[in-house]
Amino acid sequence: METLKIAPSILSADIANLSAEVESVKTADYLHVDIMDGHFVPNLTYGPGIVKVLKRISSLPLDVHLMIDNPAAFAQVFIESGADILTVHAEVEPHLHRLVHQIKDLGAKAGVSLNPSTPVSVLESILPDLDLVLIMTVNPGFGGQKFIPSMLYKLKKLRTLVDSLQPEDRPVIEVDGGIKIDNIKIVAQAGVDMVVSGSGIFKTPDRAQTINLMQNSRLH
Ligand code: DX5
Ligand code: ZN
Repeated sequence: METLKIAPSILSADIANLSAEVESVKTADYLHVDIMDGHFVPNLTYGPGIVKVLKRISSLPLDVHLMIDNPAAFAQVFIESGADILTVHAEVEPHLHRLVHQIKDLGAKAGVSLNPSTPVSVLESILPDLDLVLIMTVNPGFGGQKFIPSMLYKLKKLRTLVDSLQPEDRPVIEVDGGIKIDNIKIVAQAGVDMVVSGSGIFKTPDRAQTINLMQNSRLH
């Protein structure tokens, strides 16, 4: 069985020691970068500059999660800065089909994220156009929040929809928020491919070991 893909969120890293923090999670599969604008979500983080820095100091592919209004205006700069996957929120973009194809044309993989209260049905018509669907299991804005258990139903629903597509049309299912060693197994069983974890990795004493356990959580 394939391992679960793990994306540590640098939101929980010590930004004063970014190189060492990035080095400590190098056995992961991606680096997750949370971009917040203080409008779509009630918090501010960083811009394309940090993506450029991470591209320079890390060899992991960058999984950039845009929690911003008007993502179409910023897609190009984030991709030029080094985003390998660019994920936008469905709630802020009325022309998702167009934006997803713009992201792909700019050379990145295109993801769409859903807040906990947004149903998977909003993506049903464009699922084959997407490289990735990111299901939020907390309300976005902050690290260290509690996983919302009712999202397991949503994940299972999405898995069924995705599996009804031809294999080459199936987007990756990613999940983000409140995931740690003690609940990753139930998330994995809901059929996800890729897991974001911030505090669940950075706040553990042996990050490499946590990442290894998470990657293999489907096996035990
Ligand atoms: C939340 C962010 C998450 C966050 C996850 O708005 O999108 O990526 O960093 O942090 P944890 O794993 O601590 O919930
Ligand atoms: Zn995120």
